Amino acid sequence: MSDAATHLGSGKVRELYSLDEGRLLLVTSDRISTFDVVLPTEIPDKGRVLTGLSAFWFAQTADVVPNHLLALRDDGRSTECRRLEMLPIECVVRGYLAGSGWKDYTATGEVCGRRLPEGLVESQQLPEPLFTPATKAQTGHDENIDRAAAIELVGEERFDEVERLSLLLYRFASERAAGRGIVLADTKLEFGVDETGQLVLADEAFTPDSSRFWPAGEFEPGRTQASFDKQFVRDYCESLGWDKTYPGPELPQDVVDGTRARYVEAFERLTEIPFDDYVANPEVVLG
Ligand SMILES: Nc1ncnc2c1ncn2[C@@H]1O[C@H](COP(=O)(O)OP(=O)(O)OP(=O)(O)O)[C@@H](O)[C@H]1O
Ligand SMILES: [Mg+2]
Repeated sequence: MSDAATHLGSGKVRELYSLDEGRLLLVTSDRISTFDVVLPTEIPDKGRVLTGLSAFWFAQTADVVPNHLLALRDDGRSTECRRLEMLPIECVVRGYLAGSGWKDYTATGEVCGRRLPEGLVESQQLPEPLFTPATKAQTGHDENIDRAAAIELVGEERFDEVERLSLLLYRFASERAAGRGIVLADTKLEFGVDETGQLVLADEAFTPDSSRFWPAGEFEPGRTQASFDKQFVRDYCESLGWDKTYPGPELPQDVVDGTRARYVEAFERLTEIPFDDYVANPEVVLG
């Protein structure tokens, strides 16, 4: 890291440094959070998987929308990126009914104010992908919001722009994932605005932390799906009867190993690049 870098803050997973006026250094740790609580046990290489996958997708989608990536560092977990004014919403796209989308649907028949057909079952594919924005909670859980509430936060023009781009990006990534035997059930994107007012894709993109990846071969609507994402850890934590408040439980070695293997498998399937090649030279994901 350059001497000039100053630490700006810590997210649940990333450390943020300022390089200069226009550039940030985003360092992705091996921390894992579940139910919004960071667990005391780390997953080795998880930060590299997230960094490499995001960089891969940024490179793949650069002609769909500009992104914040400037450079990948040799450690495979540090990204130099453009410093942006982040929009105060999370741009979620759902192609399938899972997580809070499923929960809201069973309670109200709607997701983010959009009425869905009756009789859908858990994990069912939606008639078409839905843009379902959420607040970016500073503390606690993100909350699904409807179109009007999102427009309050970002304005109508910006809303229409991020909806259109989020759906385009989701379609692009879900097609690619489908070709690799992975169902991209849903995903969360974050956008920022640069000094000229241009919208820029930021943060992480199509990683197991920001998305639900389901092995297509085992997909079966009507139940919770086995997945490449944090579901494995969530299931373990729930099996303990943990109340989902701080502090979270330590993870035993087999859960650590199983989780690491799932993150690495997601990386290799989606990029078609051996993870060891990425560790040796991160720039292989840039194509
Ligand atoms: N290019 C960028 N410019 C400014 N801020 C950014 C940029 N890219 C990402 N960020 C912000 O950096 C932070 C990344 O840290 P991290 O992902 O650990 O945070 P978190 O959002 O608290 O965690 P979680 O992802 O689990 O909700 C987020 O607040 C994100 O909005
Ligand atoms: Mg984040």
